[in-house]
Amino acid sequence: VSVQHPDGSIHAMEAPVDMGLSLMEFLKASEYDILATCGGMALCATCCVDVLEGEEKLNEMSDDEYAMLDTLPDLLPNSRLACQLKLNPAMDGLVVKLHGT
Ligand code: FES
Repeated sequence: VSVQHPDGSIHAMEAPVDMGLSLMEFLKASEYDILATCGGMALCATCCVDVLEGEEKLNEMSDDEYAMLDTLPDLLPNSRLACQLKLNPAMDGLVVKLHGT
């Protein structure tokens, strides 16, 4: 999983797929500044990421995720809630950017 920083640089990381972690938990553990106020319940949208590459590798959006994202004024077509994306091998090569950075 890679994260694009505001300066355009890309930070590639090996994400564990056998711990049941979400992308939000992994990014938080990797010291990215994600509030995740609701703790992963799809209720706060502070874990929002914009998917730059690999969108097709992700699970489909649930109604809850869609409803929450829809409240964001600056929503992009590729925005997702990182807490709703469980790390799995199919996500290899995913590139995201923290929403709003
Ligand atoms: Fe709150 Fe993802 S942590 S919506």
